[in-house]
Amino acid sequence: MCGIVGYVGSDDAAEFLIEGLRRLEYRGYDSAGVAVVCDDDIAVTRSVGRIQSLVDRLGTPPAGSLGLGHTRWATHGPATEENAHPHVGGDGDVVLVHNGVIENYQILKDGLIEKGYEFHSATDSEVIAHLVAEGLRNTPVVEDQPHSRYVTAVQWAIAQLRGTYGLAIIFRDKPGFMIAARFGSPLVIGVGRGEYFIASDASPLAGRTDRIVYLADHQLAVLTADGFSVLHRDSGKVRVNIQPFEADSGEVSMNGYEHYMLKEIYEQPDALRNAMRGRLNDQDATAVFGGLNLTPQQLRSVERIILTGCGTSWHSALVGEYMIEELSRIPVTVEYASELRYRNPPIENNTLVFGITQSGETADTLAALNETKRKGHRTLAICNVVGSSIAQASDGGVYLHAGPEIGVASTKAFTSQCCVLAMLALYFGRMRHMSFETGGRIIEDLRRLPATIEQALTCDAEVRKVAEKYQSASNVLYLGRRYNFPTALEGALKLKEISYIHAEGYPAAEMKHGPIALVDADTPSIFIMPRGTTYDKVLSNMEEVKARGGPVIAIASSDDTEIRKIADDVIMIPEAPEFLQPIVSVIPLQLLSYHIAVLRGCDVDKPRNLAKSVTVE
Ligand code: F6R
Repeated sequence: MCGIVGYVGSDDAAEFLIEGLRRLEYRGYDSAGVAVVCDDDIAVTRSVGRIQSLVDRLGTPPAGSLGLGHTRWATHGPATEENAHPHVGGDGDVVLVHNGVIENYQILKDGLIEKGYEFHSATDSEVIAHLVAEGLRNTPVVEDQPHSRYVTAVQWAIAQLRGTYGLAIIFRDKPGFMIAARFGSPLVIGVGRGEYFIASDASPLAGRTDRIVYLADHQLAVLTADGFSVLHRDSGKVRVNIQPFEADSGEVSMNGYEHYMLKEIYEQPDALRNAMRGRLNDQDATAVFGGLNLTPQQLRSVERIILTGCGTSWHSALVGEYMIEELSRIPVTVEYASELRYRNPPIENNTLVFGITQSGETADTLAALNETKRKGHRTLAICNVVGSSIAQASDGGVYLHAGPEIGVASTKAFTSQCCVLAMLALYFGRMRHMSFETGGRIIEDLRRLPATIEQALTCDAEVRKVAEKYQSASNVLYLGRRYNFPTALEGALKLKEISYIHAEGYPAAEMKHGPIALVDADTPSIFIMPRGTTYDKVLSNMEEVKARGGPVIAIASSDDTEIRKIADDVIMIPEAPEFLQPIVSVIPLQLLSYHIAVLRGCDVDKPRNLAKSVTVE
């Protein structure tokens, strides 16, 4: 995880570094630091905690037009100032920031200690700083090639690393010069006019440049204010594609909302519109996707689909399983990405593997896709972040177009993923047995969805009252069936991660096989039970909980007046066809977690111990 930024140009570096780190803070917020080249030296400032602590520590930031910065999610060593980046190598000759994990750091560290290098932190990253310093020590200056010694030293150092890295490196005796390198951790270059930016993802570039380069694994960039070039780690220069970049800085602001999470919850109607834009084809009553990179014949021959992802994205995969099996009749298997990689399941020919991910950087999902691709299967991504590692590594895919999701708890990405999966179910269904008429009806259902979500969001005030009532609970059960079972899991995850209340999601009927033992007067059970096939069964499950003295809350259809006689609290949601219910019923659950977390004084957008992109396995 961690976020890194770098600046080289003629402006004030610190200003970009601090603003960039604020935008990357969702990637980790245990400590932060910056290094700025000024007066022939490099001023390094580090601080434990959030970016604001660093800003307070800096006071007046050092003036200089080249620098780098880092916001940390601790992997090796606790969140202390010594372990904060930037790290310094040699006798202050090399200063770097690192995102990733170096698996063989201990053996490298032992070797460097033997050579007399002194370590000041418990991190794996400091090893890289000293290795580069050692590389410099062993590399002679080459006349007429002013950069080559530094490039050679970095190439030599990174060739010894086992693990992942996104790096930005500066040198005390080479002001105005920076090297960036990438393997397994994302890195982009913002191409300005007479200035260049480095960042872990594109968000810090919004409002600063409209051109971007996505560095690939094993690539190294050499940057000065006059230009940049990209090399392969082991060979010479490579040509890179400078792509247009469109985000404006407004997209990453809070737009008057108190938290990013709340803003993103309210953005869902628009996010869904964006996910569907140009993808519904009335003429053929199907969906269309530009980036699957497979012929209709290849898609027609698909006999099994594997959906894989982590956390919330795994929950949307579960929703996708129900949708695709029901609407397309293609067997679907859902796998935790972290298990798929090592479980080595037999995968038949004609299996299509979809990696589902908001960030496109989740290490487990990337590894699972790479492993299945290595075995010759076609891998596709359902991804939000354009140009991310998973988008690049897969054979093709579908972008969500949900806009930046900054709150650590995923909201609009979940509903957009479900929406894309519904369109894929329609697409595969129409390739097989689904009639024109049914396809047309599904398109109508999908088109109505953004307005339905707008209506669902009006439950906010009601949800807030429920949040006030149950904010002190220690345990909460979330129960639902069929399409609303994954929603139950998602509701429980949302509550756990931002309010630190223990919560469990279960298929409602499964409750009587064990979890019912947890039911008591202090353990609320939330039943997600809009009208549908299993409504009566879930109602009976609710009665069973009530009979045992457990408080029950119903997320129910707006015309369900009877439910008020049974449930202690009811939150009404608008009607939707069953396959789209998870997208609607998750709205009050997102809001409930949000309000409970706020009432409990939790840091909603940056819950403890978490980070937005989990780039370690
Ligand atoms: C929960 C949450 C996480 C992510 C998971 C996968 O709110 O955000 O569980 O869903 O870390 O992340 P992506 O989707 O970026 O691969």
